[in-house]
Amino acid sequence: MNLIFLGPPGAGKGTQAQRLIALLGIPQLSTGDILRKAVAAGTELGRKAKAIMEAGNLVPDEVVNGIIDDALSKPEQAGGFLLDGFPRTVAQAEALDAMLAKRGKKIDHVLALEVGKDVLVGRLSGRETCPKCGASYHTTSQPTKVKGLCDKCGSHVVSRADDAPERVRQRLVEYESKTSLLTGYYEKQGVVRHIDGVGTLDEVGQRILRAIGK
Ligand code: AP5
Repeated sequence: MNLIFLGPPGAGKGTQAQRLIALLGIPQLSTGDILRKAVAAGTELGRKAKAIMEAGNLVPDEVVNGIIDDALSKPEQAGGFLLDGFPRTVAQAEALDAMLAKRGKKIDHVLALEVGKDVLVGRLSGRETCPKCGASYHTTSQPTKVKGLCDKCGSHVVSRADDAPERVRQRLVEYESKTSLLTGYYEKQGVVRHIDGVGTLDEVGQRILRAIGK
C-alpha cells in the first residue's frame, strides 16, 4: 500500500506514521527526518537546508524531489511506503506522479489530518524529539517515561529549533500558501481521506485504519 500523510505542522503525521508503519510493515519516508539527519551530519545537503529549515521555510523542490526519487529506487520501498512531509507543493506532487508512473505505481490513499491552529501551536510548543531515533513526544500528552530521555533508545530528547513560536508561525504560512493546495490536487485523483486529527493517539489511529480499510 502506498500512502501519503498530509497535514499542517504538528498535525500528528510523524506520530501516526510511526504507529502505522509498525502495523503495516512498510517503511516511512519523511523528508523532514532525512533533512534533519543531513543537517546534523553536516553534509552538503544539510548545509544547503539548515538555514531554510530553521527559518520555517520550504527547501527547494528540486532538492527534496531528488531525495524521494533516490529513496523510491531502493528495494525496501517495493512493497509499499508511507510518505510523511512530501509532497508539500503542487510541483512536488507533479514530480511524484512522474516518479511513480515510471515505476508503474500509484498512491492508494492520501491521509489528510485535520487539526485547528490553536491545537497545533500547543502541540508544537510541548514537543520533544529524539535526535538519534526520531521518536516524538509531548511534555503533557505523550511524555517520556524518564524525563528528558527517549523511551526507545535512551538518548537525550530535544526541542526542535523550528518549533519556536515565530518559526511555527512561518511554517503555518508556508503550509497555508503552498501545501494546503494539495488536498484539491489529490481530490481530483479520488484518493483523499479526511481524518479528524483531534483526539487521543489511539482514537486518531483508529480513524486512520478505518479510512484505509484495515
Ligand atoms: P517536517 O519535519 O516534515 O515538519 P512538519 O510538516 O512541520 O511537521 P511536524 O514534524 O512539525 O509535525 P507532525 O505533523 O509530524 O506532528 P508530530 O507527529 O511530531 O519538516 C520540517 C522542515 O523540513 C520544513 O519546515 C521544511 O523546511 C523542510 N521540509 C521537509 N519536507 C519538505 C518538503 N517536502 N519540501 C520542502 N521542505 C521540506 O506531533 C506534534 C506534537 O503533537 C508531538 O509532540 C506529538 O507527541 C503531539 N501529538 C501528536 N498527535 C497528538 C494527539 N492526537 N493528541 C495530542 N498530542 C499529539
